[in-house]
Amino acid sequence: MKRLINIFIVIAIILLLPMCNRTQNQAGKVAQEMLSYIDSLMSKMTLDEKLGQLNLLAWDGSLTTGAAANTGVSQKVANGLVGGLFNIESLQERRKIQELAIRQSRLGIPLMFGQDVIHGHHIIFPIPLALSCSWDLDLIELTAKAAAYEASADGIDWVFSPMVDISRDPRWGRVAEGAGEDTYLGSLIAEAMVKGYQGTNMATDESVMACVKHYALYGAAEAGRDYNTVDMSKIRMFQDYLPPYQAAVDAGVGSVMTSFNDINGIPATSNKWLIDDVLRKNWGFNGFIVTDYTAISEMGNHGIGDLKTSSALAIDAGIDMDMVSEGFVNTLKPSLDEGAVSLSVIDQACKRVLEAKYKLGLFNDPFIRLKKDSVNKLKETEFMELSLMAAQKSCVLLKNNNTLPLKSDQRVAVIGPLADSKKDLLGTWVLSGEMDKVQSIKEAAQKKGNILYAEGAKLTDNKELRKLINYNPGNKVDEVMLKEAVQTAQMSDVVVAVLGESAAMSGEASSMADISLQRTQKQLLRALVKTGKPVVLVLVGGRPLTLEWEAENCAAILQCWSGGTQTAPAVSNVLWGDYNPSGRLTMSFPRKVGQIPVYYNMKNTGRPLISGIKYTSQFIDVSNKPLYPFGYGLSYTSFEYGDLTIHDNVMHQGDTITASITIKNIGEYEGEETPQLYIRDLVASVTRPLKELKAFKKVYLKPGEETTIEFQISDKDLKFFNDKLEYLVEPGEFQISIGPNSEDVKTQNFHYKLK
Ligand code: BGC
Repeated sequence: MKRLINIFIVIAIILLLPMCNRTQNQAGKVAQEMLSYIDSLMSKMTLDEKLGQLNLLAWDGSLTTGAAANTGVSQKVANGLVGGLFNIESLQERRKIQELAIRQSRLGIPLMFGQDVIHGHHIIFPIPLALSCSWDLDLIELTAKAAAYEASADGIDWVFSPMVDISRDPRWGRVAEGAGEDTYLGSLIAEAMVKGYQGTNMATDESVMACVKHYALYGAAEAGRDYNTVDMSKIRMFQDYLPPYQAAVDAGVGSVMTSFNDINGIPATSNKWLIDDVLRKNWGFNGFIVTDYTAISEMGNHGIGDLKTSSALAIDAGIDMDMVSEGFVNTLKPSLDEGAVSLSVIDQACKRVLEAKYKLGLFNDPFIRLKKDSVNKLKETEFMELSLMAAQKSCVLLKNNNTLPLKSDQRVAVIGPLADSKKDLLGTWVLSGEMDKVQSIKEAAQKKGNILYAEGAKLTDNKELRKLINYNPGNKVDEVMLKEAVQTAQMSDVVVAVLGESAAMSGEASSMADISLQRTQKQLLRALVKTGKPVVLVLVGGRPLTLEWEAENCAAILQCWSGGTQTAPAVSNVLWGDYNPSGRLTMSFPRKVGQIPVYYNMKNTGRPLISGIKYTSQFIDVSNKPLYPFGYGLSYTSFEYGDLTIHDNVMHQGDTITASITIKNIGEYEGEETPQLYIRDLVASVTRPLKELKAFKKVYLKPGEETTIEFQISDKDLKFFNDKLEYLVEPGEFQISIGPNSEDVKTQNFHYKLK
């Protein structure tokens, strides 16, 4: 049989080879055409014009995202001193400025328009952390594709996404923008998003170029304080933090954005090892690299030198485009004269930027994405449905004391400062979201049942925070609000408390040292629980919170995050049982801030925890475990896992072994389960984590239905970086665990042997 298969494979290769050669030849021809086009263009360019291509500016009056902004942009465009612009408000403005570049600059090189399209453009999808909880790669790819469709119709060529920074620190506000704490899942999501944005050909008016960010390790900022220092061993970098960026590169991402932080003493933006050795040479990245917002001028604050020194260091490290600092355009010429940078480095960077424009089809037609006047309405319905599905799949049910789903004849009191908010449901990074399509949770609930409503409390009473998040508390008196809420609760059968964070409380520059509910909200929740009515806590927001009291005292907790345009209908579908929640956490929820970093794939220590025994690795005042672990999430039904079987307890190098397990829906609702497979390397030359996610599946089961799922384990699932940074498998004992989350698992061991 094996022989027959081999013969079949050989015949297939012989038949397919000419086809592959033809495609390769075709690709080679296109690449050749691009190179000669760009060579010829560059032969006409002055040094200033070349430097102009490296200059990425924020349009005056645009949606700026940093403290600094550029001025006199039109004139600079007309002089050929700008390569691209970003975060411009409208299609009309983009068209106007493209016309200026084409008609007035000497060589008429088209501009490239970037934007922070992070989780949708007009129709908004859940914030990335929420969407990652769907563990649904096809869905994630579709959301990126939809965003690309809408953004390209709006004149945008290039999106600053995906953000793939692994983070184990929920104090960091930007956890909202990433896929959580896990390297394996984060890498798959990075790949799905790049594919969704770029499609198979970027030179169409339905796709855009992606920009993976923030390279690198931005999510490991000390204490979760934004922009802060990162100091990390190389083993940890390669093992846990770098793979998602590499996955985006392997998926063909067109551009990479560097991060604000320094890494082991060198800012990422001038880090030659990181950019040139790892990204370009090791991983073979051949697209272009842009800095983050003013990252070059910020190197002054890092103590690296003035703008001129920093710009020379950055271009020498391999940066191609300078976002906002205008260091390249203004200082590289004197640096060149002084011999601090070489012309070949500048030429190389210019070439890469022009190649990106070529790949986007801009030389063929500078107005390729500037033609449509409005979004295709047919797609709008499709994207609204996608947004609903995505928001539903992102909801994670954290607790349920038989209170959910709600019954249609129950009187439900919807209470809380976020119950009637719309914009907070959209979340961080929404520059062009359409507010008129958004309902508040209260409004959507009114379509389902008999609803009473009270605001109950202000979002926060922290004066400093109010200013930074732009929150206006209004004139209502706290005591009056609270009294009204309690009375409303008393008139109901069940309370739905909509609490958490406003959109501005997570995202960039929104780090928090205290990640519990705000004081005003805690007070409200306590008063509601005291009424004796069952309280369902619905949590809006962008990060895991510390919820010990809430977990003990609420009847149910639904984490709905900022789920985008359709958050509210999704939440009411879940609350009233029209959708059975299936989201699984991609970040551990700590019990207390002091546990941070708390993540599932930690190591064992030499003195692993033995409960109640001193001198073992523990906190003496709180459990080591998170409140809700990675991979966790409930359903309205229950799934029973059978015994884990591995089909062989010895695996030989290059072979595979199969692990299987039976899952049965033993509840009353049909529902989706996400069985997860983790592996532990029990003996190795370097210390290894207690478990690492290596595979997962999605199964949908009707009540009473059961299925047996199988996972194939191969060498790649056992590999790790040793202390020489070699990526390999070492022979010995391994442990496989399968379960519904990272803690409740069944395990079996096997032995791995070299050939
Ligand atoms: C952020 C990036 C963003 C850029 C452009 C920066 O402040 O860190 O994620 O893409 O601004 O808006």
